[in-house]
Amino acid sequence: MQMKSRKQSDKYFKFNGNPVDKGMHSSQLMELFEEQLKDILWAEKALIKAIPKMISQAASDDLILILTGHLKETNEQVTRLAKVFKEIGKKPSTIKCDAMEGLITETSVLLEDCEKGPKCDAGIISAAQKIEHYEIATYGTLREFAETLGLKEAEKLLLETLDEEKTADQKLTDIAVDVVNMGAAVKQA
Ligand SMILES: [Fe+2]
Repeated sequence: MQMKSRKQSDKYFKFNGNPVDKGMHSSQLMELFEEQLKDILWAEKALIKAIPKMISQAASDDLILILTGHLKETNEQVTRLAKVFKEIGKKPSTIKCDAMEGLITETSVLLEDCEKGPKCDAGIISAAQKIEHYEIATYGTLREFAETLGLKEAEKLLLETLDEEKTADQKLTDIAVDVVNMGAAVKQA
């Protein structure tokens, strides 16, 4: 890890009740914050390419609507991340997010073998929810980091994105029941 000289603004933070001298140094937390920002920016950019493939394989109008809306939000989330980078005085850059790459690969494999219809839709919903849960975990942590670091604007922006991810996840849960029921109806017919 890069060594930095102590600045007046540097503080120690306590985590899980650790004594102050064992807490994390603010410059270390800032490094971690920046690394995770780069990781999620890579993930969002990868999703901008992956979501249209999911839309093209979806049959349910509701699912298409949710994915299309979330694609638009994802573009806005990239812009929001650029503002967060600006607040910490950095240019937006990326580090490959292995977790998101894995989730997108899994989704591509699923889409290769699926015939348009309720079963494929249920698979897309499940893949999209795994992605949302990863993003919710990441933005939740990033928001906490921003709060601890006293980055007010970043905290607000990250919370906005966190709320969008949670809403998208909830919408997917809401339509999952309909899609599964439709699948059952098709099977009985
Ligand atoms: Fe996102």
